[in-house]
Amino acid sequence: MDKELGLKKRVATLTLDDGRQIELPMMSGTLGPDVIDINALSKLGVFTYDPAFFSTASCTSKITFIDGDAGLLYYRGFPIEQLAQGGDFLEVCYLLLEGELPTAEKLMAFKHKVTMHTMVHDQLMKFFNGFRRDAHPMAVMVGVVGALSAFYHESMDINNPDDRDLACMRLLGKVPTIAAMAYKYHIGQPFMYPQNNLTYVENFLHMMFAVPSEEYVPNPILVKALERIFILHADHEQNASTSTVRLAGSSGANPYACMASGIAALWGPAHGGANEAALNMLEEIGDIAHVAQFVQDVKDKKRLLMGFGHRVYKNMDPRASVMRDTCYEVLKEQGLENDKLFKLAMELEQIALSDPYFIERKLYPNVDFYSGIVLRALGIPTNMFTVIFAVGRTIGWVAQWNEMMTESNRKIGRPRQLYIGADRRDYISTDKR
Ligand code: CMC
Repeated sequence: MDKELGLKKRVATLTLDDGRQIELPMMSGTLGPDVIDINALSKLGVFTYDPAFFSTASCTSKITFIDGDAGLLYYRGFPIEQLAQGGDFLEVCYLLLEGELPTAEKLMAFKHKVTMHTMVHDQLMKFFNGFRRDAHPMAVMVGVVGALSAFYHESMDINNPDDRDLACMRLLGKVPTIAAMAYKYHIGQPFMYPQNNLTYVENFLHMMFAVPSEEYVPNPILVKALERIFILHADHEQNASTSTVRLAGSSGANPYACMASGIAALWGPAHGGANEAALNMLEEIGDIAHVAQFVQDVKDKKRLLMGFGHRVYKNMDPRASVMRDTCYEVLKEQGLENDKLFKLAMELEQIALSDPYFIERKLYPNVDFYSGIVLRALGIPTNMFTVIFAVGRTIGWVAQWNEMMTESNRKIGRPRQLYIGADRRDYISTDKR
């Protein structure tokens, strides 16, 4: 019996093929399936084998809950649809970091704190010149966000909550600035300094699209759309990039280096690179007349339908439903309802949602299928799509890293393996091989 709760302790009993048995504690969260604590297994000299972590919870967390079968996503208990409707990204950032929605006063103070960190060190700007102009902006992001590690030696004690808070504010403030600089460098325009009288999202659009010689007034519909994209991408529990950040952080690495590792993991087309890959795919299909053949190629396993499928969602991605609505709003605002690529995307969506191949495999459009179309309508170039994802996800990485750092029993992450290489053998010198 559990003395504190007065509950009967639940266990799972595992019997090995040699008859040895072990009782493994079962744990329940607030929501979601129970887990079996297999930590004691190594005492028997065996490990579990779970490539790609289909059945493994790597940590406990209070931040985000996903029910992939029901299509639910909650940040700190709040459904994503409600937060996206509220539409203030920094309010969501506060929620993810602190665990509660802020009062109006606390939100104002938080916004002020983030805003005070939007500028980057003048020396950091010089890093950009080391990159080729045609470098992929995600390559620049990995490098320059990692380079922040070299600027804040005096406040990088990861065991000090004040230093951690400062690092979180710096990352939230500076990642959009670095992202916009990556874009400006790519197109050969001067960097635009942040404007602290603007909101977080307005400021980002300003740094992306303003030029020193013109006045720039952000369009409120487009601001709202980007705010939504950031909110929808803010956190997604233990996905590949967040797990990477946690693993890097578990060694005691500094937060800026950890974020760079997250950005690297996000870049791949199976993860954050999917929005770029989805749009490239639409451009490659090119015409509605080619959709049927493309779908056949997917069914013949020659291609993947980018922007479809998800490791966790085996139902409609709740973020995709919100993004779909935003997609219509933005295309209407931009007068792009008859846009060829959008029509093609809708055709693809309809076929995939009604074809037994996709229904049987529970392959639904994910958030990135629609976010690519929205970002394109906002005038954001395709190679910046994953960068936008990284800007939105920075808060998730930061909040998850911070949560891990406050754990009293934090240990370095160290998966084991099933070795399938050569057995022991003796070295033979080259003249005898
Ligand atoms: N197009 C065609 N078939 C697919 C796709 C797809 N996008 N995704 C999965 N399948 C098929 C797969 O071939 C397999 O079929 P079968 O049972 O006949 O072998 C079945 O569906 C199950 O696939 P899986 O590979 O076991 O699924 P997974 O959970 O390992 O993969 C995924 C998840 C997201 C990597 C994959 O669906 C994918 O590559 N999708 C395209 C990339 C994409 O849109 N990623 C963004 C995810 S949302 C953003 C984020 O959160 O990062």
